[in-house]
Amino acid sequence: MAKAKTYYACRHCGYRTTKWLGRCPSCQEWESLEEEAAKAPAKNSSAGHDTLCRPLSQVAAEDLGRMLTGLEELDRVLGGGLAPGAVTLLSGEPGVGKSTLLLQAAAGLAARNRRLLYVTGEESAAQVRLRAERLGLDLSRLWVAAETRVEAVCEMMAGEWDAVAIDSIQTMSAGDLASPAGSPGQIREAASRLGALAKSRSLPLWLVGHITKDGAIAGPKLLEHLVDTVLYFEGDRERSLRLLRAFKNRFGSVNEIGVFEMGEGGLGEVGNPSALFLSERPEGASGSVVTPIMEGRRPLLVEVQALVSESPLAMPRRQSLGVDAARVGLLAAVLEKKVRLKLFDRDIFVNVAGGARISEPAADMAIVAALGSSWIDRPAPANTIFIGEVGLAGEIRSVTQLEPRLNEARKMGFTRAVIPDSSAKKPNVQGMELFPVKSVAQLLRGHLGFSRA
Ligand code: TYD
Ligand code: MG
Repeated sequence: MAKAKTYYACRHCGYRTTKWLGRCPSCQEWESLEEEAAKAPAKNSSAGHDTLCRPLSQVAAEDLGRMLTGLEELDRVLGGGLAPGAVTLLSGEPGVGKSTLLLQAAAGLAARNRRLLYVTGEESAAQVRLRAERLGLDLSRLWVAAETRVEAVCEMMAGEWDAVAIDSIQTMSAGDLASPAGSPGQIREAASRLGALAKSRSLPLWLVGHITKDGAIAGPKLLEHLVDTVLYFEGDRERSLRLLRAFKNRFGSVNEIGVFEMGEGGLGEVGNPSALFLSERPEGASGSVVTPIMEGRRPLLVEVQALVSESPLAMPRRQSLGVDAARVGLLAAVLEKKVRLKLFDRDIFVNVAGGARISEPAADMAIVAALGSSWIDRPAPANTIFIGEVGLAGEIRSVTQLEPRLNEARKMGFTRAVIPDSSAKKPNVQGMELFPVKSVAQLLRGHLGFSRA
């Protein structure tokens, strides 16, 4: 029998080679290569993949029967529920709510007479029970196994399950590898063995993967090419809002996001995030304007607040939350230079309410309008949204996906929209009056009550 090859894997980036090297050629780290235990050859001819070459017409159309978890926000991000044999990586920082989401999904499946096996390597079965109790779930229909050995999990997967979840992949270890659980070699090995088995049994498989803020653990990154779907669960500890984004999806679009709110009873679905972001908006206050931003394919209305006040300091303060400070600085410079708005001796604070984050230039006009409204201390016109990019010459530039943005605003009761006056055809949205503007000066004069700008 041919001798099995020895592989060396980099502790840091997961680079694999058959030769030991003093320095990893991929991440340039010194002495980071570790020997992986020898294993049977042909490990890549995993059971789930057949090796037959044939015309596509002879490939049996796979059963596309999707399984719904009942969590609509999750099902939508998945592309319409779990696909058979789909391996999904759910990654996020510790504490964001990955285990909670999976447990709630398991309960949703159970309510549809589907059995998900929840394999916990992080918490004990008793801890999982406590959590499920707190969430008010039906304990008799949830299945749990506290296990970290890949071989044992593979055996369990032979049971009558409709789906399996591994929480987390970093705790799993294959007995024939010398490296510890959580090392790149182990993570990859565990994921590829479990993934292949799931595929061969058409079993949807969830893998939970932790990432740290500074990305110190390369685990989930390592797995992205091994799995069908990569979901990121985001949010911060101070706020209850959680966003679920698809980063890669072989079974659906990557432009969907799911919105949840973490509360006492677990994760609640937020079907109407615009309402959430606008819920505490003060009526008739200066410095507050609304703009629709795009989160993937989904428009979301957010409130931009600005406070411009005379500064007692030689170096006035410039602070922003939820929007890039450099962008605010640039827009303030445009206002100063192009419409001679005196800002150099003012403190400027900009905040996106509700903890939302803006990264799109399409929100420029809203930031400028908020600054202008606060400066002149007059509220922006009622029921009005502002959409447009602002150029360095003070020109208002067109934005993508104007129509869905306008539709969302209309849905939320806005009836007026200040938009870029570009040559492109203006969308026709019933009940929404459009006010095209060409420049920042025109915006301030026409819509914010500046007599000259
Ligand atoms: P968890 O699902 O354990 O996060 P992860 O698996 O991503 O590490 O969620 C942990 C946090 O969520 C914890 O800080 C407590 C909070 N939480 C609630 O606020 N309400 C709840 O009902 C539950 C179960 C958790
Ligand atoms: Mg967890």
